[in-house]
Amino acid sequence: MNLAEDLRRAGQPELARLLETLPEDEAATLAAEVAAVDLDLLADLVDRLVRTDRPEMAGEVSPADPSDFVRIAQNDEERERDRAAKVLGERMLRDGRVAAVLLAGGQGSRLGFDGPKGAFPFAPITGRTLFWHHCATIAALRERHRAPLPLYILTSPTNDQETRDFFAANDHFGLEPQSVRFVVQGTLPAVDATTGALLRESPGHLALSPDGHGGLLTALRRTGTLDEMAAAGIDTMFTFQVDNPLVRTCRPEFLGHHEMAGAQMSSVVVRKVGPEERMGVIARLDGRPGVVEYSDLPDELAALRDDEGELVYWAGSIAVHCIDRRFAERLTQDGVHLPHHRALKVVPYIDADGRPVDPAEPNAVKFETFLFDALAHADRTVAVEAAREEEFAPIKNATGSDSPESARRALNNLYATWIEAAGMEAPRDEHGEPVDIEIDPRLALDPDELAGALMEGRTISGPTVLGPPG
Ligand code: UTP
Repeated sequence: MNLAEDLRRAGQPELARLLETLPEDEAATLAAEVAAVDLDLLADLVDRLVRTDRPEMAGEVSPADPSDFVRIAQNDEERERDRAAKVLGERMLRDGRVAAVLLAGGQGSRLGFDGPKGAFPFAPITGRTLFWHHCATIAALRERHRAPLPLYILTSPTNDQETRDFFAANDHFGLEPQSVRFVVQGTLPAVDATTGALLRESPGHLALSPDGHGGLLTALRRTGTLDEMAAAGIDTMFTFQVDNPLVRTCRPEFLGHHEMAGAQMSSVVVRKVGPEERMGVIARLDGRPGVVEYSDLPDELAALRDDEGELVYWAGSIAVHCIDRRFAERLTQDGVHLPHHRALKVVPYIDADGRPVDPAEPNAVKFETFLFDALAHADRTVAVEAAREEEFAPIKNATGSDSPESARRALNNLYATWIEAAGMEAPRDEHGEPVDIEIDPRLALDPDELAGALMEGRTISGPTVLGPPG
């Protein structure tokens, strides 16, 4: 049997033997999945990322150049620059040049929520979901800018059907169904962290997981989405992650800075709270702008400060990007060559004797590519600084930092500043903390819009949902 030979050559003798000994139906499904795996790539990944003592470095790390950034405006000239960027970004939206691309193919294992992460009910009063919030924002942007602004959602084989069903069951959250497109990313098999052997999720199936958010690029090409965008006159993709309810989707200033810089790929960054914060930072890698994962940045570099006492590697990437469509076309022309990273995870599996094993400790390596590694291929990039409290509160963990609770506090704090900017008092609890507030994006996307929308003389005295009339 050829496939078994191929598996042996690729260093997977155990699975080769199983293919020959399993009952026919199980062997057949397993064979079909193995046939879809690039075994040469797998052998190479196992060699470089599993059976090795020395982790691979992405390249020589050095600080980013000041010209890599657009910093938060400090003076009138910079404020004028931002105003010009905003006007330009608004025009890009109005002219139908922009698509929103929501990354939602991940497994969300840390949160431990049963279902696609976008279906997580994060809103404290209404229990609205992340998908609701992102779609209401898209609806608001379409209306404000009279923009077509199609929404593309990256899913993976594990959550694609559930995601589509969730959208259908919720009437696509008020968006025209044909203006929401689902793009399914690929998968890669998980392997045993010690031996590199392919793991099975069930007797006749491999343990497959999404191939990382870098898989977006291949998926856009494979599904014909890049061509579809070209035909629709879209030249800029705004990419964002499903788990950040604070994200400023398609913020015109960011779109405008990307365009003004003539960039092929741009990033939004926030100042890291301290050296130990687990966030990728903008740096130079072998002289080219890129993101260095927190796990790849040596502690002494993470802690390095300049003469003013500021962290040298201060710019944490919040995984929000603008990507030029033609750049994505070029990158995917002959297959995508983003580096693979290893992630050590808990993966339940079936052992060689057919017994299910549910490990308590990480036992497997998953391989992923990261979207930000595309930065290294861009001729021109720019990183635009934003205020963390206005744009970044990811929901990653069930409790503690980056959890539903920390995001709720961040949203309440932000909305309290909006309410105060509108000249009203923001309600607070006995500890002085802002109480739960929800603001429907269709009422206001920023403090100015809220100030314009609130009725004069109105007071807000407790937990409140502010929405559009009707
Ligand atoms: P994370 O890196 O936080 O991974 O993804 P995750 O899978 O959601 O969660 P954990 O690590 O299992 O707890 C960041 C963003 O990238 C998307 C996720 O859906 C999330 O919006 N993503 C991640 C993909 O779209 N595809 C992937 O293969 C991985």
